[in-house]
Amino acid sequence: MELQTVHLRFEPVSQDPEEAASSGQIAVVELHRPKALNAINRQMVADLASVLDALDAAAPRAVVLTGAGNRAFAAGADIKEMVSYSAVQAAAFAREGQRILARLETLSAPTIAAVNGFALGGGCELAMCCDLILAGANASFGQPEVKLAVIPGFGGTQRLVRRVGRQRALELMMTGRTVKASEAVALGLALSVSEEAVLDDALKLARRIAANGPVAVSMVKRAVHETDRLDIDAGLAAEASLFGLCFATADQEEGMAAFVERRPARFTGA
Ligand code: CAA
Repeated sequence: MELQTVHLRFEPVSQDPEEAASSGQIAVVELHRPKALNAINRQMVADLASVLDALDAAAPRAVVLTGAGNRAFAAGADIKEMVSYSAVQAAAFAREGQRILARLETLSAPTIAAVNGFALGGGCELAMCCDLILAGANASFGQPEVKLAVIPGFGGTQRLVRRVGRQRALELMMTGRTVKASEAVALGLALSVSEEAVLDDALKLARRIAANGPVAVSMVKRAVHETDRLDIDAGLAAEASLFGLCFATADQEEGMAAFVERRPARFTGA
C-alpha cells in the first residue's frame, strides 16, 4: 500500500520459504516524505489513519515503523504547514494527531519504532507511541518545540514524562535540546543502539516476538497499557483476568502441549 506520505508493506515472519505462507506477517510502515525529513503534515496524519485501518484488517504479528531515507524517522510536525495556523486550527491538528497516535499505541500487535535519524517533536511523540524504540547510530531525539515558541502537541508532555520521569522530561522540553542514541538508551527512552542498520535489527526483534503466541503477546501489551493509570491491586486483578483469558486460546493448549511433548510449538493466533 503506497499512500502519498506513508508506505505499508508486509513480510513473512518466517524466512524459511516453506513456512513463510503460514507463519503470519510483519508489517513495515514507512513515513515517506524524505525531502522534508518525513515531517508530519495533515496528509500524513490522514495516511496514517488509513494505514491503521489496514493494520486492523490484516492483524500482523508485529509492526515496525520507520522513516524513508537515511536522515530522519520524522523531524516533527510540518512547520511550513503550521506557520499560518490559527489557534483553533492548531488545537484541531493536535487533537487529530493525538487521536491517530493513540490508535497506534493501542494496536493489538506489538510495535517497534526503528529510529533512523531525527525523531524530533511529533516524530519523537510518534516513536513514543510504539512499544519499543530502537535507535540507529545516527538517531537523535528531542522535543524542540519551545524553540518555535510552542509546546509538544502530539502527546509529548504526557508520554515523555512517563518514559523518562518528570524532571528529565521537563529539562528536555524546556531546553529543547536533542539527545543522541546513547543518551536516549541511558534515559530509558530507547531500548538499544544499533551499530548496523536499525531496520534490520527491528525486524529481527519483531521476528523473535512474533515467534511467540500472538494472543499472549497482545495480552502482555494490554496488561501493561490498560493498567498504567490504575493502582497495583486493580492492575493485578486485570492481569489475573487476562491470564485466565489466555487459557481460552488454542495457542495456549498448543504451547503447553509442545512443551510437554518436547517439540517446537506452532502458533496460529487462535
Ligand atoms: N517541518 C517542515 N519541514 C521540515 C521540518 C519540519 N518539522 N524539518 C525539516 N524540514 C525540511 C526543511 O525545511 C528542509 O526543506 P527545504 O530543503 O525545502 O528547505 C528539509 O526538511 C531538510 O531540512 P534542513 O535543511 O533543515 O536540514 P538540516 O540537516 O540542516 O537540519 C534539522 C535538520 C535539525 C532536523 C532541522 O531540519 C530542524 O530543526 N527541523 C525542525 C525540527 C523541529 O523543530 N521539530 C518540531 C516541530 S513542531 C512539532 O512537532 C509540534 C508537535 O509536537 C506536534
